[in-house]
Parts: sequence; C-alpha cells; structure tokens
Amino acid sequence: MTPLVSRRTGPLRGTARIPGDKSISHRSLMFGAIATGETLVHGLLEGEDVLATAAAMRAMGAQVERDGALWRVSGVGVGGLREPAEVLDMGNSGTSTRLLIGLVGTHPFTAFFTGDASLRKRPMARVTEPLSRMGVGFVGRSGGRLPLAVVGTADPLPIEYTLPVASAQVKSAILLAGLNTPGVTTVIERQPTRDYTETMLRHFGAEVRTEALADGAMAISITGQPELTGRTIHVPADPSSAAFPTVAALLRPGSEVRLPNIGINPRRFGLFETLIEMGGDITLENRRMEGGEPVADLLVRGSALKGIEVPPERAPSMIDEYPILMVAAACAEGPTVMRGIEELRVKESDRAAVMARGLAACGVKVEETHDTVTVHGTGRAPAGGATVAAELDHRIAMSFLVLGMAADAPVTVDDGKPIDTSFPGFAALMNGLGGQVG
Ligand code: S3P
Repeated sequence: MTPLVSRRTGPLRGTARIPGDKSISHRSLMFGAIATGETLVHGLLEGEDVLATAAAMRAMGAQVERDGALWRVSGVGVGGLREPAEVLDMGNSGTSTRLLIGLVGTHPFTAFFTGDASLRKRPMARVTEPLSRMGVGFVGRSGGRLPLAVVGTADPLPIEYTLPVASAQVKSAILLAGLNTPGVTTVIERQPTRDYTETMLRHFGAEVRTEALADGAMAISITGQPELTGRTIHVPADPSSAAFPTVAALLRPGSEVRLPNIGINPRRFGLFETLIEMGGDITLENRRMEGGEPVADLLVRGSALKGIEVPPERAPSMIDEYPILMVAAACAEGPTVMRGIEELRVKESDRAAVMARGLAACGVKVEETHDTVTVHGTGRAPAGGATVAAELDHRIAMSFLVLGMAADAPVTVDDGKPIDTSFPGFAALMNGLGGQVG
C-alpha cells in the first residue's frame, strides 16, 4: 500500500500535459496486433492497464515494442493470433479483459484470463452471454467472473445483438469477435457510447456501418474477415484524466491552468458540459481534428460552482467522471443530483458506494439509492481530515486527492498505487501546478 496525502493549496497555475487516452491506447495495440504490417503509435498511454494489453498481444504472437517516444506494433493479420502459453493476467483492466475475450473468442484455441482482486469481482456475463451465441465456450466463476477460460470457436456464427446495458466494452467485444466471423455481425445500442472501436477499425480498413433505426437506436455492423493494414495513430490526451486537474483548478480561486490536446469526442465530453453548466470557467481553444478525433486545448479558471441536476441521458458520455464530479459537487452551492448511474456500481469499485462513504467521512452530506447519488454542497470547502479507502480504484484515489486540495484539513488515500493504471505521474503533475500531494 502507498498512502498519499493531499493538502489545501493556493491557486493552481501552469500547463498540465495529460497522458494519452486509455481507450484509444488499448485499441491501438489490439488493432495493430491483428493488422498486417506495422502500426506506429504516438502518445500511447504507458499506464499499467495499457501495458497489460501490450503483454497480452505479445503473448499471442504480435510484436509490440517501445522505440523512444513511439510504440511499434507488428501484427499477425485477422484470425492470426496464437494460443497464449500462460494465463493472461489483465491486472486491474476491465477494458483489456472484455475486448480481448471477444477478440480471442473467434480464434480456435483456449485462453485463460485472470486479474487483480478488483477485476475478479467484475461481471463478465455481459460479454460471455452474447459471445456464447456466436459459439464461444466459457468456463468461469459465477457471473462469468475471472478466472475465466475462453474456449475459442473455429466456426463462429454472426449475431445481431441489442445491448442490455450502455457499454462500449460490450459493444466492442462483440464487434471484435465479429472480425474473424464470416458474414455480418450487428450490435444495436440504444444510448450512444464511445465509438473508438468503430472509428479506428474503419481506419485500419474494416467495413463498419452505422445505421440510425426508427426508434432512435443505432445499429453498428461489421463485415467479417477483412484485411486490416497497419496504420499511424496519434493518441490525444485523455479527457477522463484531464478531469482531475480541471476540477482542482475550478475549486481553487485564482487558478489558471492550460491543458493541451485534450480529446473532446462528444461521447466523452459530458463532464465538461456539466461543469460549464455548474458555472465552471472552461474555454476550448484551438479546436481541431487530429488523427480522426476532435481535440482542443482547455483553459480552466477558478470558479464558484452551483449544484445542478445532471441529465441521466448524459451518463454514458461521462461514466468514468462521476467520482470527480461528486468532488466538484461537494464544493458547489446547493444539491447536485446524478441519476441513472447504476453502472457506477460495477466499475473498478462500487463507485457510488465508495464515493458516498468517503465524502461522508470528509463531512459532506450525500444521499444514495441504487441508481442515484445526490451530493449536498454548501458552497464552501468540506471539512476533509479523513483517510479514505481507494478500493483498488484509480479514479477514487485521484478524486479524494483533489478534494484534499480544497478541504479544510488534509485528505489521505490509503493506497495511491492504482493511479498508475491510468495516470502515471499524477502527483508530480498536480504538484507542478502548485498542489501538495505526496
Ligand atoms: C471503456 C468503456 C467504459 C469505461 C472504461 C473504458 C472503453 O466501460 O468505463 O473506462 O474503452 O471501451 P463500460 O463499457 O463498462 O461502460
């Protein structure tokens, strides 16, 4: 365990260079590994989760090498992965696990997946159920949980599947299984979730079609067994990581922080829209397209925030950001109501419960039901002064360290180690802006 403490700071100032987007980084390595030829990745997130994906792709025959600031991936072609000799240990990473279960499921071999105590609790039935319909076999614990053996099929069947939960991971697992399946595999999503799998597979040469249905849902179809070709990828900075210095700067009066090159894909931008509605002074400068994704430089200034009702339909576009929004809400004036957030309960931890407990320990009034959290801000900084259990959850750890930057008394997180899964260098970056995290 590596405890970290954070104390109240003066205004934050400077430029925050945020590491690469985690979702795009995972997919760059996976898609590079099943393309033919070389994929060059600029700005890859070198966090533990992405390194777990790199190790898995190597274990199945791809070459994945770091070359200075660049990563080079030499792929094996669609359907060309080979049986891994060892159990694939995915650490803390749900994205690596769920996407790779789909990808390997339509290869004719068996692969064994495990992970850390957090990942072994997370539900995998949401991917094993649709993949079983394609012919993939599974031997796992109850709820399909890890450790899990994926018995790949040599004769996969294409399916049409309507997602029962708004999940980009489930959508992606099915589309990746569809890659090595003859015919057309279709996923229907009722609520839009992040679309990097679709955009990036097209970029590598796959035929992926999206069609708006009469009831407002989207059908996403992939034609199986395409030729994928290695590409160059520029990974934008991760908006989910940018969220932490953004909220810290908003909470400290007089702050002015620049965050260059942040991904502003509308399916990821819900937190920033919400913070702006709460009165946050956030400006998007220099909007542009980079490597097929919209990016901008953010300028964030200290602001007095007010509580709002967050529209539930916005949840998929900010699903990873509710913990840090709850911190912003704890310092805002009036209640902030977050509905439709039951998916928070199956992330790296039960984020609704863990945040509610930690905020209460820091003197914040919080109400919680299965799918709603209401944080009652008073318009001034909370008491703080508590030690909070991070529960192997990077975003819980970072959220409470941001709270400590504003609270009356220091906030301690029992273990800051999980932060390395997504945001290596987090404490140094915050301290470079004027924070006191250590
Ligand atoms: C991700 C999808 C989301 C998100 C996760 C990354 C992805 O998970 O929480 O951090 O890269 O596809 P769900 O699909 O479970 O919502």
